[in-house]
Amino acid sequence: MTRKRPEELRSHRWFGTDDIRAFGHRSRMLQMGLSESDFRGKPVIGIINTWSDLSPCHFHFKQRVEEVKRGVWQAGGFPVELPAHPVTEQYMKPTSMLYRNMLAMETEELARSQPCDGLVLLGGCDKTPPGLTMGAITAGLPFIFVPAGPMLRGNWRGKTLGSGSDTWKYHAELRAGRITEEAWKEMEGGIARSFGTCMTAGTAATMMLAVEAMGLTLPGASAIPAPDAAHPRMATDSGRRIVDMVWEDLTPAKMLSQGSVDNAVAAAMAFGGSTNAIPHLIAMARRAGLELDLERFHAISARVPLIADLRPNGTTYLMEDFFYAGGSRAFLERMREHLDLAAMTVTGRTMGEEIAGAEVYNDAVIRTLDNPLQANGGLTVLHGSLAPRGAVIKTSAADPRLLTHTGPAVVFEDYADLKKRLDDPDLEVTADSVLVLRQAGPQGGPGMPEWGMLPLPKKLLVQGVSDMVRISDARMSGTSYGTCVLHIAPESHIGGPLALVRSGDLISLDVPNRKLDLLVDAAELARRQAEWVQRPRRYTRGWTSLYLDQVTQADEGCDMAFLEGTAPSPEPDIY
Ligand code: FES
Ligand code: MG
Repeated sequence: MTRKRPEELRSHRWFGTDDIRAFGHRSRMLQMGLSESDFRGKPVIGIINTWSDLSPCHFHFKQRVEEVKRGVWQAGGFPVELPAHPVTEQYMKPTSMLYRNMLAMETEELARSQPCDGLVLLGGCDKTPPGLTMGAITAGLPFIFVPAGPMLRGNWRGKTLGSGSDTWKYHAELRAGRITEEAWKEMEGGIARSFGTCMTAGTAATMMLAVEAMGLTLPGASAIPAPDAAHPRMATDSGRRIVDMVWEDLTPAKMLSQGSVDNAVAAAMAFGGSTNAIPHLIAMARRAGLELDLERFHAISARVPLIADLRPNGTTYLMEDFFYAGGSRAFLERMREHLDLAAMTVTGRTMGEEIAGAEVYNDAVIRTLDNPLQANGGLTVLHGSLAPRGAVIKTSAADPRLLTHTGPAVVFEDYADLKKRLDDPDLEVTADSVLVLRQAGPQGGPGMPEWGMLPLPKKLLVQGVSDMVRISDARMSGTSYGTCVLHIAPESHIGGPLALVRSGDLISLDVPNRKLDLLVDAAELARRQAEWVQRPRRYTRGWTSLYLDQVTQADEGCDMAFLEGTAPSPEPDIY
């Protein structure tokens, strides 16, 4: 393998020349107490850190960044920490999704505008694996992803609690009067017991695994619990490895292939992963100039069995159990016949080489391919008069009885309308109704909030109703469950057919035939379309306004049109 010479490093243009600019660049390094031997002629490794005091999922990154640096120094590189937007799922309103593309843009520009030769990406909470990798793929420098890893299992009075899933479950129990306020309050202190990401098979676990399956982490990295001592060792190893990746010039363009993308989708499907993986992986693939659309997703989901028995698909296990059962390497080894084994990884070896021989220690958690939790990946892409450009449903989280269902719509104009009327005793709704939510798409939300698991009306909950058909242009949390049709495209805000539904209209969901239809005749729909007026725009300045101008629809990955594509951006001139 040919290795770069120090004069070929990108950072050489900043530090290695003998002009007035380099004088300034070097003198400012000395100002920070560094010696020329610390940085000159060495790969400069930008460590993009999404730590913040408002990101419990990334709370350990303040320490992990030091461990990454340790590895970089040891391997002869020069580490620099570059703080980036934390895009924290827990605190950002209206939704963190509104900021995924901002993180992508920030990552790209942090790398491009500064003397970086390679990157280490510290992320994990839902939007950060896609945001960081989208930006790093576009920046084009060698990079390695260090996943935050899941938190420990939750515990309440000796019962295991899972992030999100058990919040939804016990909140419904509370509303139905089956647990006390006091018990509910107690759970606050037990459901999140350590730093790290949600430990159900939610978006964070799905996306960290998908990034690993894409070859972008060290093998086995994505399932290590955040507080486990193996986690800082993995961080240090990642720091050591990136330095060699720079010398080897292992750029994303050389590494990523159609096989890498398909592997990410296959892993997410065998994992029973979050529906959020769909727009994220589509956006990531497009940044690499590779193919991924809803049909390809559906086709992979249809051929890959769901073998991870984790909540919310299963009833018992969490990510900690998954790690003890062998973790992500063993999981990928078990599904190897569904992977492109020739796809490259950050180690410079292939996926096939990296997973060979990894053992599963508990078949109840990571099942065998011939004894899956479900025969397919659990995601079905739907089309029909209500979703001309597609919609998705996570069948593994739905009530099988409802997968073929026709019922009258109960329409909510937006989330505020839903909150106002849902529990009204006079609301005309039965268990056969189809709950419809509008104004929850990429532009309508804005940012396509996770409102897709519409809560059930209280009067039905107390009757013991536990699931209903719900449809929207929203996303839903990977920890959610229920018969929820999501990501309807085009969205209601821009006049998609979802905008035309009226309460009482019949809606037909036919998952076996992949259909979602509004049973209203075409002439009537045309009449409604002619009368339809778009809601005025609430945001007229700033980031959100730019976002609204540029965001693409769910089937296209919700990237921003001006950030898409692989056209190279020029290297900055250094004067
Ligand atoms: Fe950060 Fe779930 S809130 S991973
Ligand atoms: Mg989530």
